Amino acid sequence: MISLTSSDRGASMFQREAAEAFRIVKKLEGRGTRVEPALFINLARVRTNASRVANLWARTFSGGAAFFPYKTNSTRAVCQAIRSAHIGAEVCSDSEFRLALRDRHNARNIMVNGPAKSHELIASSILQGAIVNLDNLEEVRIACSTLRHSSAFTNSPRIGFRLRPVINTQQLSVFGMDRDQILTACRMVKDVCKDASLGIHLHLGLNAPIGNCFARALNDAADIARCFQSSGGKTFVNVGSGFWPPDWSTNRQQAVESALLTVGMIRRVLRKHLDLENSPVYTEPGETLIGDAGVLVGRVMSVKRDPRRNVLVVDTGQNVLRNGRGWQFDVIFERPARRTIRMDLKGPLCYETDIVASGVPVPQGTVRGDLLAFLRCGAYSVATAFDWSGNYRRLFVRDGRRILEEHRR
Ligand SMILES: Cc1ncc(COP(=O)(O)O)c(C=O)c1O
Repeated sequence: MISLTSSDRGASMFQREAAEAFRIVKKLEGRGTRVEPALFINLARVRTNASRVANLWARTFSGGAAFFPYKTNSTRAVCQAIRSAHIGAEVCSDSEFRLALRDRHNARNIMVNGPAKSHELIASSILQGAIVNLDNLEEVRIACSTLRHSSAFTNSPRIGFRLRPVINTQQLSVFGMDRDQILTACRMVKDVCKDASLGIHLHLGLNAPIGNCFARALNDAADIARCFQSSGGKTFVNVGSGFWPPDWSTNRQQAVESALLTVGMIRRVLRKHLDLENSPVYTEPGETLIGDAGVLVGRVMSVKRDPRRNVLVVDTGQNVLRNGRGWQFDVIFERPARRTIRMDLKGPLCYETDIVASGVPVPQGTVRGDLLAFLRCGAYSVATAFDWSGNYRRLFVRDGRRILEEHRR
């Protein structure tokens, strides 16, 4: 355990966190242990975010619930802090389902999503009472055979269908089923289980960005909702996530207001278009719950200056940071300087596209061995890290003034 010693008054919250992280890394290094790349998670912030989300959702949607996507960060302390705020678990694989049960989630508070569920995951999660959002007709057939062969459900099974939106005129999302497939799926499920609650999974995020694409998806969703109503029984709506501001804690008041606006808008839209007034509304926010609770410390490996391109090579690339979305991270350097030079930050992987931030103002005089910190990378870092050219060496969880070490699960 490491205890924190001081805080730099006047610096921003994130700067203070980065400064603390630098101190700890240097202290351990002074004892002969190299610890970076090291991820620091602030558990107090996770708890605050979780209780805000849970309260906001409960106030806005009675009978609704929020679920934490295990893929965003399945660190044990994080998952347990979020569970204590009465947020369920969202899982996409057999191993995540097992982790959520091991974290003592009741299966009824688990939601199963994702495009590649195993037969066992679909069957066992339906039988244990989880919410299961099916991605394709093959999964619908597996769910139907499970429902056909099992009669004893204490509660009605909850089966949702992910709607496949048209992202722009040319491009169709890779996730979910189109309107006609869902109408077929709805009939297939009702044929084998009249009692099933049917749901529509309309993940707003990058999959259905607000705008034309969202409006089209809503039209399809309205047809599907009518089909649910005519087939009788309970229904639910799952709005996925990807809609909260990532600056939840930089400007809390503004962030809460804008979250309220978004959530209020979703509520109005659902009422107006879907007419599913009494259906519970579910969400699975990842970035919002954990994004701003993580600081990653890495090290400069090389400085390449050239009139055509300036590149700073660091040991923290897409091996330890979320990749594939052109994500830009804010960066703080251990040794700031008044003058800076714009540089691209290149990770350690042997491909050109391992760029984790571009046009970053790098302090003049930065040299190999300097530390740097990436802010707001609590989400999608732990779960997507891999071993090509290095992984996290250490994962620290800060709880108040105590810093404990965790192992990745
Ligand atoms: C279906 C689904 N739900 C929720 C999330 C979490 O999104 P965010 O971290 O933007 O809240 C994702 C992210 O990939 C997702 O695919």
